[in-house]
Amino acid sequence: QSPSFLLLHLMEGLVHQGTPNYCISKLLPVSVFVSYKKFSVLGSDQPIVADVGEEVVLPCQLSPRMSAVNKTIRWFRDQIDSPVYLYKNTLHITDEQDQAYRGRTTLFIKELENGNVSLGIRNIHASDEGIYNCFVESLKWYEGTQIKVIVTDGLHGSHTLSLKMKEGKGIQLGCKSSGWYPKPEVTWTDGKSQKLTTVSETIETEDGGLFSVNSYVITDDSSHKRTCHIQNDFMKETRESSLQISDVFFPRVSPWLVAFFVLLGLLPVAICIAIYCWRKQSK
Ligand SMILES: *[C@@H]1O[C@H](CO)[C@@H](O)[C@H](O)[C@H]1NC(C)=O
Ligand SMILES: *[C@@H]1O[C@H](CO)[C@@H](O)[C@H](O)[C@H]1NC(C)=O
Repeated sequence: QSPSFLLLHLMEGLVHQGTPNYCISKLLPVSVFVSYKKFSVLGSDQPIVADVGEEVVLPCQLSPRMSAVNKTIRWFRDQIDSPVYLYKNTLHITDEQDQAYRGRTTLFIKELENGNVSLGIRNIHASDEGIYNCFVESLKWYEGTQIKVIVTDGLHGSHTLSLKMKEGKGIQLGCKSSGWYPKPEVTWTDGKSQKLTTVSETIETEDGGLFSVNSYVITDDSSHKRTCHIQNDFMKETRESSLQISDVFFPRVSPWLVAFFVLLGLLPVAICIAIYCWRKQSK
């Protein structure tokens, strides 16, 4: 046997031990493989984002374009032997398939001729979130790529608008929204659709890679309508909340009136103390 053949067997040994493929492709001289049809596998740098219950296509494409009909296509997550999808010897192998994906996955048969080995998953569950490996193997060559899936849950994402008095500084309005991917943009407008300046904004990462945003404005003028717009171009999603601030929150109260209410509040306490002292004395 020629040295190149030995090298190939060595490579196959490494493959089955799960050595990362970049090592092998760097280590082995390219010339060895000239007689075989090499290919690379292209996925997506961007995560695939889907809502619970939706359908997704995880992109995976052979490059250069060539048929994948006679290749082994294995989609898997952590467990290579419990695949999300397995196609081998032109057959769709279902008995090894991960239970969680049965009846929900598909390869696009007509697309295989074009080297399109994308995976369709129906009825996305929250547990489908994670990294997927697309692994394509021919007799003497293999390649793989990883695709990240993020599952958002429109029902659990929350959106609230809050109002807080800031002494001497007007009213602080806060807008908090969660369940976004990627980071959303927040803008505030007043009743005349004029943009307001945000005083502070924080963006946090939640479990599962989604973002939540917390944004504040301060207001003290008399046009009391405020709207918080949150949008995300990537998901083409916009949420809005408006609030009409009542005049009650812009008090023109005299200090005397405040003192009067404070005393009024203290009155029952004073009466209780008086009764207590009186009883003690009369014992
Ligand atoms: C796949 O393999 C079959 C049987 O070996 C062969 O007839 C067919 O031409 C192959 N198809 C491609 C696209 O290589
Ligand atoms: C592969 O096929 C799927 C399903 O038909 C399609 O959505 C996707 O755009 C195709 N990808 C390419 C690169 O043609």
